[in-house]
Formats: sequence, C-alpha cells, structure tokens
Amino acid sequence: MKEGIVKWKSPSNIALVKYWGKHGRQLPSNPSISFTLSNAHTITEIQYQRSDQELVRPSVQFTFEGETKPAFETKIVAYLESIKEDLPLIKQHKFKIASSNSFPHSSGIASSASSMSALALCLLSIEQELHDRENIDFNKASMLARLGSGSASRSVFGPLAIWGDTTISNASSNEYAIPFGESFDPVFNDFHDDILIVSKKEKSVSSTAGHALMENNPYALNRFEQAHKHLEELNQAMTTGDIETFGLIVEKEALTLHALMMASTPPYMLMEPNTISIINEIKEFRTSKYIPVYFTLDAGPNIHMLYPHKYLTEIAKLKQHLSQYCQDGTILDDHVGQGPQKLS
Ligand code: DP6
Repeated sequence: MKEGIVKWKSPSNIALVKYWGKHGRQLPSNPSISFTLSNAHTITEIQYQRSDQELVRPSVQFTFEGETKPAFETKIVAYLESIKEDLPLIKQHKFKIASSNSFPHSSGIASSASSMSALALCLLSIEQELHDRENIDFNKASMLARLGSGSASRSVFGPLAIWGDTTISNASSNEYAIPFGESFDPVFNDFHDDILIVSKKEKSVSSTAGHALMENNPYALNRFEQAHKHLEELNQAMTTGDIETFGLIVEKEALTLHALMMASTPPYMLMEPNTISIINEIKEFRTSKYIPVYFTLDAGPNIHMLYPHKYLTEIAKLKQHLSQYCQDGTILDDHVGQGPQKLS
C-alpha cells in the first residue's frame, strides 16, 4: 500500500498510584495504576504516503484544531526521530497529522497522555495496514506511547491500566502498560472523575522537569518503595470493594506527589490556595454526609474528584458549591472509560 488514512480517539487517564521519577529510556522508577477516562480525549488522524527514497529525517505536516503549530510539529518530528528504529516505516513515509482535543487547550489539563497515545495508536495502525495484519500490536502501541510520555502508556487500555514491574501482576512491565482490574469490584467500573479547574495557566514546572528532580530527592528511595506497597494495598482494596481504603491510598498518593515537589532542590509548589480549600471542603462533605468522595491531583493545581456513580445527585450540589474555587467556575465532568477507539 502506498498511502492511506488512519484515525484514533484516545483518552486521558488519572493515576491512582503515581508515576513520579524515571530513568534510562523513559523507564518508570516505580509502578503506577490509573483510571482511563472517557470525555477528556484526543482525536488524531494521520494521512501517510510512501516516499520514493528513504527519508533522512521524519517528514511531518502537523495541524492542531485546523491550525499549524510549528512548536508541536518540531516535538513530533523529534519524537518520530527517536523511535524510527523501533518503527522503520517512519523512514519510508511522509505524514500529515491532524489532531484535536475534547477539552480546551488552555484548560490546565495535560494532554500528553491522550495525544501521545492517539499518535502511537495511529502509527501502529499504519504498521498493521502495511503488513496486512489482522490486529494492531497494543503492547507496542503502549511502548511507543511511553516513549512520547510515560503516562501515555496507560491510556492505551481501559478501564484501568498498570505500568511498571509489580508483584500484583506477572504480566506487568516497565516497557509498556497492560489492562488491569478484571477482578476489581464493579463499583470501580463506572467511577466518576470530575476535574475542578483551579487554574488554566501553564504549569511553572513541567512534569518532565519534575521527574528529573526526583534524581536528587532525599526521599526518592522511600517513595519508590511506598508506591509498590500502595499498589499492593490498592489492589486488595479495589478487589474487595473497600472504597474507604481506596480513598485513603489515593489521597495519600496525591499529597505525597506534591510533598515530593516541595522537597526537591529547588523546591516548588504547584498547589494553589483554592486547591487546598477544595481538599478541605471535600473532606468536610465526606465526613458530614457519609458520602465516599475523594480527591487526587496531577502535577498541577487542579483537583480530580472521585466518587461512585450512585452518588451523582448528592455530588452535583457539592460541585455547585466548589465551582466558586474554580477559574471561570470550570468543572469538566468525566468518568472511567473503556479505552481508545479506532475511528473510520
Ligand atoms: C503526576 O507522563 O506527564 O501525572 O513521562 O515526562 O511525559 P513524562 O511525564 P508525564 O508524568 C505524569 C506524572 C503524573 C503521575 C502519573 O500520571 O502517573
């Protein structure tokens, strides 16, 4: 085949046990687990065309939501260059890549997980078409997504994925994520994750820079051990449907992530006053109303509010109240999803 078009929709994910610290070629310092989301996603389409001669550097024309974005294009070229030995078709094809996100670009939501997984899945679909294979190689898609952004490796699978060597699975790997949680209590299949946008500003310290600061963090080794232990405990809690222990671990993970940032050299803080107000309000609501609602955080000031589907109505009132702490009152409703989808 000389040319073709492939298209994937791939979701974002929210880590319950966090990946924070890496080494070598994007290998994680500890295992992580995440809920794959549904509404927050990227759609990427690649038109590919065979080149008459081998390309010295990857050939890419990139548009984001219909507009050229030279800075993104440069990043994609560098990414393709870095994986061209893993995927030799990059040396023989020219790509026109068009991408869009379901969430506003400047909403404070990191898009690397959804965008890099969508891109990797498109590349693997091209490989599948060129080799006339029946299925795409999802492990390889996850591996290539990982090389673009670590957390993207987990977005390739839903409703939950684990990435990194861990005692809770014989099949887990540092190289790629795997789907996980088949034996989990069904309450987690349709868990909600509403994203409270405290700030839409770009983060002052990127995740990539944050990971690098773990190298000299005096608490790093204890942290990596703690993540292993948290994953084992969380596995147990999610299998038995113990939401209280689930919430305890998830909140401890979120605050530990931010504590690690504050203990880095140089130290930094990404939480904002409204982040802390929301955390306190969620705790107060939980204890006064006996409703299992918990928070987690990414490497930024925004809150992910997690709760079982059956409390949707009660939580709607809480959300109305919490919108005062959000920039322009923005709250993005999301829930656990089934993973990426190939679009025709
Ligand atoms: C806090 O995957 O964004 O969200 O691998 O450098 O692209 P890079 O970092 P990234 O880090 C995500 C960190 C986190 C926790 C997590 O998703 O596990």
